[in-house]
Amino acid sequence: MENIHIFKTTDELSAFFAQKLAELSHSVSEGKQASVALSGGSTPRAIFQYISRHAVDSIHWDNIRLFWGDERCVPPDQEESNYKMTLDTLLVNIPLESSSIFRIKGEKNPVEEAERYSTLVSGLLPKYNDTPAFDMVLLGLGEDGHTASIFPPDITLFNSKKLFEATQNPYTGQKRITATGRIINNARNVFFLVTGASKAEMVARLIKKQEGYENLPASRVMPESKNLFWLLDEQAAGLL
Ligand code: 6PG
Repeated sequence: MENIHIFKTTDELSAFFAQKLAELSHSVSEGKQASVALSGGSTPRAIFQYISRHAVDSIHWDNIRLFWGDERCVPPDQEESNYKMTLDTLLVNIPLESSSIFRIKGEKNPVEEAERYSTLVSGLLPKYNDTPAFDMVLLGLGEDGHTASIFPPDITLFNSKKLFEATQNPYTGQKRITATGRIINNARNVFFLVTGASKAEMVARLIKKQEGYENLPASRVMPESKNLFWLLDEQAAGLL
């Protein structure tokens, strides 16, 4: 069931998401941890900044483990790194043990790291359909309809048997590691986090299932749980 939430401002969107994360963190059974796969991108960045400013105390961080749904193949101290973006905007401001933070090592050989991370995630998460199940997967949306680091030329990554794959940004050649559709669509909750007028056309194509939408990687995000949430600001929702 697609849940589409439209907000006046990024702060309102961020507050809504922070509330969902807080609810998740307080719903975890004794001794367990909720596993959240983070995304890069401008909207997740804004949400992380919001949480750092306004929501740190409402989230039970001891019950959370952080992973990433994709990473750029660069060292963790590079501006391009999704981990660095998260470190600078969120991790430095929250009381989360480093033992609960599992970054994708962008500085390693991509194929070997995709394999390592798949094994790590497989060993740490509960299984559903014989596949690790994240409690929450955060996704951004590119203007070309990419999500995580699954770009249109590599849409077949949605059908990979693997959990994470090495790929690349087809426009820049930058190597990436990305979650595949197998693990994204096995998550209990998936959030598309999209703001800005530049995404309005793509959001409309996807949600209104307009001509050719099925060739867009983001259209393949269809969690079996049916818990797919679109968190949009009014600009990104402008053509709905
Ligand atoms: C990344 C993200 C990517 C991002 C989209 C949208 O590594 O950058 O995984 O999927 O979410 O490119 O990014 P913007 O919101 O910055 O346009």
